Amino acid sequence: MPYPTCHERLVMAYTFYYYFILMHFCIIIVAATSNALTRPKFSSILVFGDSTVDTGNNNYIITVAKGNHLPYGRDFPGHVPTGRFSNGKLIPDFLASYLNIKDTVPPFLDPNLSNEQLLTGVSFASAGSGFDELTTLASNAISVSNQIELFEVYLSKLKGIAGGNKAKQILGDAFVIVSAGTNDFILNFYDLPSRKLEFNITAYQDFLQNNLQTFIKRLYDLGCRNFAVTGLPPIGCLPFQITLKFEKDRKCVEDENLDAKVYNRKLEKRLLGIQAMLRGSRVVYTEIYDPLIDIINRPEKYGFAKTNVGCCGSGLLEVAPSCNAITPTCDDASKYVFWDSVHPTEAVYQHIAKYIEMEVLFKFQFHRDYTYK
Ligand SMILES: *[C@@H]1O[C@H](CO)[C@@H](O)[C@H](O)[C@H]1NC(C)=O
Ligand SMILES: *[C@@H]1O[C@H](CO)[C@@H](O)[C@H](O)[C@H]1NC(C)=O
Repeated sequence: MPYPTCHERLVMAYTFYYYFILMHFCIIIVAATSNALTRPKFSSILVFGDSTVDTGNNNYIITVAKGNHLPYGRDFPGHVPTGRFSNGKLIPDFLASYLNIKDTVPPFLDPNLSNEQLLTGVSFASAGSGFDELTTLASNAISVSNQIELFEVYLSKLKGIAGGNKAKQILGDAFVIVSAGTNDFILNFYDLPSRKLEFNITAYQDFLQNNLQTFIKRLYDLGCRNFAVTGLPPIGCLPFQITLKFEKDRKCVEDENLDAKVYNRKLEKRLLGIQAMLRGSRVVYTEIYDPLIDIINRPEKYGFAKTNVGCCGSGLLEVAPSCNAITPTCDDASKYVFWDSVHPTEAVYQHIAKYIEMEVLFKFQFHRDYTYK
């Protein structure tokens, strides 16, 4: 075999180099293409509301509504209580991972958030909150209007990290979850009837939805565009409500469920109206009643055994401080619909998140294809 000349060696080296570069480019192109296919449709996830979506903000405020002690979080990665009111993850965590954003949504009040965590979104929600300021007066939670003030602080941080234009784009492409309302009915109408002196049920529902409308308008004015607004769950099926109303055979409180259904049909209509009013917005009603009542009515179909008591303690009344490290708990929370007397188990949250993924998320997809084509 003849020894290659200097020139030949140079050619070989260049050829090798050329192929190397070419291959490198091919890999980059393939990576970029597949990345485009699986790219999250949303830049980030922003969350407002109550304990159904509070991932730990109440750890940092003075309130008894805290879930940062065991047995809360016992099935969370690392088995740590984070302040989430369940044995594991919440719906925003599941949705953030289905949307390829991240695996868990941190609370905004966590003082140790990285820039990356801020860029991909946080929760401003607070357990005990609602759309009625009287509700937060009762629970000492962060009211929804104070959640907007926190959001403004967040926004200035975001601008500092990404610059004004990029921050605006991130907000416009953010998936915004709004989930509250149950506490308003429990703390001001059914169990502590302070608002009953002022409003009948119809008028109270309208009052709350007026507040909700103002809330969404304020977020829109600050740059948010894509809203998933959850309706009410079957409030009459919460073990706490069943206990308080002494329901025979621990059946759900039917009139409270009926009120929730009426509220939800009104909300669905109201959100269409809000969307029509706010140019370029998507304000999508997000059903949680139907998937939850189906689990409660046909638990065996989904692998659940207990529907009317929580896993924590007697399951009749325990929640927050009364569900704690010395409270006996059930062995397998995934057989229970409710974790404590008010909040679902992680297994239920995961079912509902899957339902939202199938039944709700495409409504945003359509909007984006339509807008950006
Ligand atoms: C924040 O991080 C510091 C250093 O890692 C740690 O000492 C501190 O406990 C953290 N604070 C919280 C609230 O997580
Ligand atoms: C509820 O109150 C409103 C006025 O606030 C009244 O117009 C309406 O008729 C009442 N509805 C019922 C069912 O009593």
